[in-house]
Amino acid sequence: MSKLHQFDVVVIGAGGAGLMAGLYASKSARTAVISKLYPTRSHTGTAQGGIGAALGNYEEDHPEWHTFDTVKGSDYLGDQDAIEFMCSAAPEIVYDLEHMGLPFDRTPEGRISQRPFGGHTNNETGKPVRRACHAADRTGHMILQTLYQQCLKNKVEFYDEYQVVDLLMVAGRAAGVVAIEMATGELHTFHAKAVIFATGGHGRIWEITSNAYSLTGDGVALTLRRGIPAEDMEFFQFHPTGIFKLGILITEGVRGEGGVLINNEGERFMPRYAASVKDLASRDVVSRAMYLEMRDGKGINGRRYLYLDVRPETVNKYAAIDGRTNPDGSPVNVTGEEILTKLPDIVDFCRTYLGVDPLTQPMPVQPTAHYAMGGIPTNMYGEVFADEKNTIVPGLYAAGECACVSVHGGNRLGTNSLVDIVVFGKEAGIKAAAFSQSVDPPKLPEHPEEEIEQLLKAFNLGDGSETIYGISNEMKSEMFDNMGVFRTEEGMTHALEKIRELKKRLNNIRLTDTGKIFNMELLNAWELVNLLELAEVTTISAIARKESRGAHAREDYPERDDKKWLKHTLAWLENDQVRLKYKPVTITKYQPKKRVY
Ligand code: FUM
Repeated sequence: MSKLHQFDVVVIGAGGAGLMAGLYASKSARTAVISKLYPTRSHTGTAQGGIGAALGNYEEDHPEWHTFDTVKGSDYLGDQDAIEFMCSAAPEIVYDLEHMGLPFDRTPEGRISQRPFGGHTNNETGKPVRRACHAADRTGHMILQTLYQQCLKNKVEFYDEYQVVDLLMVAGRAAGVVAIEMATGELHTFHAKAVIFATGGHGRIWEITSNAYSLTGDGVALTLRRGIPAEDMEFFQFHPTGIFKLGILITEGVRGEGGVLINNEGERFMPRYAASVKDLASRDVVSRAMYLEMRDGKGINGRRYLYLDVRPETVNKYAAIDGRTNPDGSPVNVTGEEILTKLPDIVDFCRTYLGVDPLTQPMPVQPTAHYAMGGIPTNMYGEVFADEKNTIVPGLYAAGECACVSVHGGNRLGTNSLVDIVVFGKEAGIKAAAFSQSVDPPKLPEHPEEEIEQLLKAFNLGDGSETIYGISNEMKSEMFDNMGVFRTEEGMTHALEKIRELKKRLNNIRLTDTGKIFNMELLNAWELVNLLELAEVTTISAIARKESRGAHAREDYPERDDKKWLKHTLAWLENDQVRLKYKPVTITKYQPKKRVY
């Protein structure tokens, strides 16, 4: 029998969405946050460049402009009511974070400082607008620290280094979760009136990724196994600037501060692809441009990377060419010291991992798997949908990257992930707490841990010849080659066959660690099942979508097709088969148009 805990609300995941949900739920309900990491090690801590909010601290800006940019950035697949809700809530929630103590950088007048970011524009001129509120290049890190302190103050109970491995559902209602205490290997049952998933993304499916090792799609996989669909999984964003081969994120804030992308001919190539915003086009546009340059033999020394150049002389040169000035209208004339102050972590990463000093040398970069636009379908209050009719699953909530509200549609704008986690984390926390106060506790299954015990036992007893690392590496390189920035029917079909083969081979693994204490091999095996299932759902959803939209770029169907495909995909995993259905996109003010940057 596992140890039993009882709460009103349990939140799974302690990144920005989980902490925000925990904080707001704990104001009226007994709340636990369960995380496989120590909270401040969550992946939100790697979000660098800023959180978008139309504060207008340097220049004219409006939440309506932020809304339109997000709709356009989503390639019109985002639900416009939810996008408007998020962008309108952004300024107030940024000030809330400031009042909680978040140390934002400041304008000379003491207001929150803002920098330009891809796809964020002055809607009248079409030029980049300063909308990303930043704390150097550590904005996510500061959000995590701030929210964690607030949660402790508010008596949220934390279960750190507990990996949630099962979702308990009774008669269609969420009833709690089962978790492994990593330090002991013991199972714990958390019986709860409301469960909020905030488990982040699943970028570890791909070989080159900005995602931490922990981003294995746990929440989406667990809900899929309980009959909940996953929405728009074919849309996975490649961030243009990952460190070559390592994938570690180099923030878009580098381009926001005037850095430019350069090919092997020394050409700043983005103006050929996005005449108006150039290097600050949306990420799908920039990543595709980079691939096309490399395919054209213009990768550096013919290899699969390009240069990102933020040396002061480069920044000053292109600012003059673009007619870009400082906020006070004076000419841009940055120094290395100023760049170091604005981008200290980036400079440090490059010096440490590459031996490259960005103040004197360009950085070698390539697109890196970065962000899941798809996930567990929810409304704006984090309530999870069971089907295409938007039937609500009682007691089940999701927020942050594991959820699909859908505010990012086919492509997320930079900075909007941080807006998403705080806006919808808060809404999910409030809604879950209110629900928990209005209902009796659900019944628990008689042996809540039985199913997961069987699965873990099977892993431990396996005596085959496969290793989880071997299978995992094959999955990652296959997905990077055939389910990346550009896709074809042939490549995707190859990927699907490979994933199915790997799923079978997973039955033939042998673990070398049979212990209980911090058995990461066992937990990684469980995570690999999640990744393979999500890779399969992603690939099947992508093969079915016969158009190009946002991050889903098909060479065999290069155009967006609003007549047939302006709709959300819902995918169910049933008896090892994927079943697809579709539901309409919510359009309010903005009729789909061709995107021009
Ligand atoms: O480029 C970045 O700083 C990443 C931000 C984001 O993904 O929103």
